[in-house]
Amino acid sequence: MANLTTRFFGLELKSPVIVGSSGLTSSVEKIKTYEENGAGAVVLKSIFEEEIYFEYEAETNKQDLGYHNLEYLDYFDYEIKNDKIKQALELIQKSKQAGVSIPIVASINCHSGSEWVFFAKKLEEAGADAIELNFFVLPSDAELEAAKIKDYYFKIIGKVLMDVTIPVTIKLSPYFSDLARMVKELSETRMAGITLFNRFFNIDIDLDKKELVAANVLSHPFEYLQALRWIGIMSGRVDCGLAASTGIHDHNTALKMFMAGANAVQVVSGIYKHGAGFIKELVKGIETWMDKNGYQNMDELTGQANLQKVKNPSWYERVQFMKHFGEFDGE
Ligand SMILES: Cc1cc2nc3c(=O)[nH]c(=O)nc-3n(C[C@H](O)[C@H](O)[C@H](O)COP(=O)(O)O)c2cc1C
Repeated sequence: MANLTTRFFGLELKSPVIVGSSGLTSSVEKIKTYEENGAGAVVLKSIFEEEIYFEYEAETNKQDLGYHNLEYLDYFDYEIKNDKIKQALELIQKSKQAGVSIPIVASINCHSGSEWVFFAKKLEEAGADAIELNFFVLPSDAELEAAKIKDYYFKIIGKVLMDVTIPVTIKLSPYFSDLARMVKELSETRMAGITLFNRFFNIDIDLDKKELVAANVLSHPFEYLQALRWIGIMSGRVDCGLAASTGIHDHNTALKMFMAGANAVQVVSGIYKHGAGFIKELVKGIETWMDKNGYQNMDELTGQANLQKVKNPSWYERVQFMKHFGEFDGE
C-alpha cells in the first residue's frame, strides 16, 4: 500500500488531504471525524479582524458607547478579541484532549498591521500547531501601486515570522502582477508553506432586483485548473512546501495537483457537498491509483509533471489558443 505521508505546514502529515479553513472545522466532533476519515490536518476558520469590529459595533450600539470612546479600545482589546481567541483555544485544547493527533492549524485574516502579530502570538500560545495567514488585499484601488501592496505583505509577514515560533504558512490569491516572483520571494522568508489559491466570496447581479447578490459559495470541479497551472510552474523553484486549493472534487484532481508539485491538497466544497466520507474516498482513490501505477510514496509522485519535468513545458505558460485550436468546432 502506498505511503501517503507528506510534509506541509513545516510538519509531517500522515495524509496529503487537509480540511481547509471554513466552518467545517468548528467543533471537536467534526475534527475527530475528519481525522478518522483520513485527513492529514485541519485548518480552523479564520479569525477575522473585520468580524470582530462588526461584533464590537453591535455591542457598543447596545451599550451606547461612542465609537471613538476610550472604552471602545478597552472593549475591543480585552473582551471581543480575547473572546475569539478563547474560542479557538478551547477548540484546540478540547480537540487534543479528545485524542486528535493530526495538526490543528489556526488561520487569521487581519486588516491592520499590528493585529496580525497579536492574533498570531495568541494562537501560538493557544496550542495551534501552525498558523495559516489568509492574507488578501483586493487590488481595487486605482491609485495604489502594486509595489506598495507587495511591501505591505512583506512588512506584515516579516513581523509575524519574527514574533511567532510555530510554522507559518500563507494562502494566496492569484491577483499579483508578478505572481511567480511573489511566490518565490515568499518562499525565501521563513514561510513554511504556500497554498495556491484561496477562493473568495464572489458577487453576482440579480437581474430582477438589479442588486448585488452573493455568488455560488461552493466551488465547481473545473475551477482547479488555475491552481494546477501555478503549482506546476512554481514546483521545484520554491524553498517551501506547496499546497493546492480550489476545485479539488475527486481523487484524480488531487493526483494531478501532486503530479504538478503540490505536497498536499486543501479541500472544502467537496466536504460541504458529500460529508466527511469525501475525505475517505479521496484518500482511498489516491492510494489505489498510486498502487496501480507503481508509486510507493508521495516523494516519487510530487512534481513529476511540473514545468521542469514535462515533455511540453511551454504549455504551462501558454495562454492564447492560437493555431492549435484554430480549427476548434465546439466539440
Ligand atoms: C463556507 C466557506 C467558508 C470559508 N471560510 C474561509 C476562511 O475562514 N478562511 C479561509 O482562508 N478560507 C475560507 N474559505 C475558503 C476555503 O478554505 C477554500 O480555500 C475554498 O473554498 C476553495 O476550496 P474548495 O474548492 O475545496 O472549496 C471558505 C470557503 C467556504 C466555502
